[in-house]
Amino acid sequence: MSRTVRARRSELATPASNEHMFAKAAAAGADLVFLDLEDACAPAEREAARGKAARALRELDWGTTTRAIRMNGVDTRWAHGDVIEVVTAAREALDVIIVPKVRAARDVWWVDVLLTQLEETLGLGERIGLEVLIEEVEGLQDVDAIARSSDRLEALIFGAGDFSASQGARVDTNFDPRADYPGDLWHYARSRIVVAARAAGIEAVDAPYPNYRDPDGYRLACERAGAMGFAGKWAIHPSQVEPANAVFAPTPEEIAHARRTVAAYRDAEAAGRGATGLDGMLVDAAHLRHAETVRTKAALLGL
Ligand code: GLV
Ligand code: MG
Repeated sequence: MSRTVRARRSELATPASNEHMFAKAAAAGADLVFLDLEDACAPAEREAARGKAARALRELDWGTTTRAIRMNGVDTRWAHGDVIEVVTAAREALDVIIVPKVRAARDVWWVDVLLTQLEETLGLGERIGLEVLIEEVEGLQDVDAIARSSDRLEALIFGAGDFSASQGARVDTNFDPRADYPGDLWHYARSRIVVAARAAGIEAVDAPYPNYRDPDGYRLACERAGAMGFAGKWAIHPSQVEPANAVFAPTPEEIAHARRTVAAYRDAEAAGRGATGLDGMLVDAAHLRHAETVRTKAALLGL
């Protein structure tokens, strides 16, 4: 079965226990909003939050925003209840489930099998997609198998907060993209995740940026992630949505340049050549691929 192709420049986190934040999240303009049943919810609130999330998914106007929840990890007592209760109550109003702390492909299969049974029992018309967080060292080691574990899987997300803890790094001291040494402490993890995602034909989404009062740092982190091939970034505050949407979308100049690149390459091809020049720069088959990627992204975003 084919996967749904979605924009995911911005993925906005909202605690599923805090109903007063839901309307603002739904109207924030994010490509995806997830109501979080996991770490943003106090453990005592997690069961009650399921009903709040399902009601919001069904009743609010989400416009074109993808509607998601983050469930609890499959090694917790909440996991099966999260999936069964929210899917049963929200039905087609839930597009995607985010699975945290995935350590192995079998964690994804477990959710996939449960969803398949629920969709059949409830007679759901739409298939629910999955995104998974790579935020445990075991998950990073097995990331290739995880990326290929289910045809519901649409994206891998880098969870730098938990990953720092899992690796034994000093949490929250190393996210600032302006730090000069050792540069991006998470460059290896980020590269590993993007390559695994792309090789499996899915997307990668970059980590949350905890300092929501640092718009310049957030924008720079978006630019770095975009340069590496991430399709988008988490937003932990509605103010982070606009910069993520802007940075991860191709600019009008990029779209125009892509169109000219394709035209130049086609002209060269018609003249029996495999390469040409455009504004003093080489255009060959690799540049054609870049240009086509820009055009595909622009078409997805209606640009
Ligand atoms: C996200 O869940 C993170 O741990 O960074
Ligand atoms: Mg986490």
